[in-house]
Amino acid sequence: MQEILTALEQRHDLPDEALCALLETDAMDGALFQAADRIRRERYGTEVFVRGLIEFTNYCRNDCYYCGIRRSNGKVQRYRLSREDILACCTEGYALGFRTFVLQGGEDAYFTEQRVCEIVSEIRERFPDCAITLSIGEWEKSSYAAFFRAGANRYLLRHETADLVHYRRLHPGAMSPEHRKRCLFDLKEIGYQVGSGFMVGSPFQTTAHLCADLRFLQELKPDMIGIGPYLTHGDTPFRTQPNGSLELTLRLIAVLRLMFPYALIPATTALGTIHPQGREMGLKAGANVVMPNLSPVSVRKLYSLYADKICTGEESAQCRSCLERRVAAAGYAIVTDIGDVRRN
Ligand code: 5AD
Ligand code: FES
Repeated sequence: MQEILTALEQRHDLPDEALCALLETDAMDGALFQAADRIRRERYGTEVFVRGLIEFTNYCRNDCYYCGIRRSNGKVQRYRLSREDILACCTEGYALGFRTFVLQGGEDAYFTEQRVCEIVSEIRERFPDCAITLSIGEWEKSSYAAFFRAGANRYLLRHETADLVHYRRLHPGAMSPEHRKRCLFDLKEIGYQVGSGFMVGSPFQTTAHLCADLRFLQELKPDMIGIGPYLTHGDTPFRTQPNGSLELTLRLIAVLRLMFPYALIPATTALGTIHPQGREMGLKAGANVVMPNLSPVSVRKLYSLYADKICTGEESAQCRSCLERRVAAAGYAIVTDIGDVRRN
């Protein structure tokens, strides 16, 4: 096993069989996390980038079986932030030192291409030194291009699972894995910095699926790779499925760091939700991004993709200082800049 790890650290790749073996054992975890931290420090030192997350709508036309804001969940109180609300979040975030805003939402028909463009243009005008990231699902290539022209420069769209059969077990027939992958390549072609990723421990997931996820990422070469444990939501068809595991998520973060030394890898909210120190453990296993919540406190509980989401009661300023402390205690340092990927 040690040889496998050494090979991965030196060559940033492994044959399928060795990769699966590494994912299936906990024997290497200590050494794996150390190797990941070494590789991360070579490229990024102790720097941790912050992205201010604005969850601007929990309406969604899709019905993903795992997601708490799926269309068929009649128990969710739906909300939308207005353009003014969104801009106010950015203003507050800017004052707190954020230079990247992530606008995330369900696939909400109210936010047409034109409305999204108007919001992006206005943020671009008011905050010319900031990166604008969209995370609003699947669109036509022409719409992605319009958002880009309006001033968006990054896009997050997890592929969720690279295996076509597994994808169909997580999503109703109206969604297709081929289209989702098409979207990711469209975004890259347009010139976005792209983030993709997957859930760890989603229902029916096998090690072979995870291996396929890593292979897909090698093909896509995204700038950012976001993963987190699958967390059960009680008002979805997957209500009886168990949570994904903290250990396997950390192992995958480390493997991602070794395979993609250049990547921006967030210690996600889901990781912080499954364990109180989850994000800190993620940083020590190779993650280098945190995404505190800038959404108004009044709506935070309503954007619940999964149960028991953290930070729903904190003001943005509290989230910022809380994370600052946590990152420092883990031995890293938050930096205030737009935090671009370092490909070499
Ligand atoms: N548990 C963990 N992550 C989830 N997501 C959606 N639902 C859940 C859940 N129940 C993730 C998906 C999506 C991202 C915004 O949140 O991967 O892409
Ligand atoms: Fe929100 Fe800690 S990051 S309170």
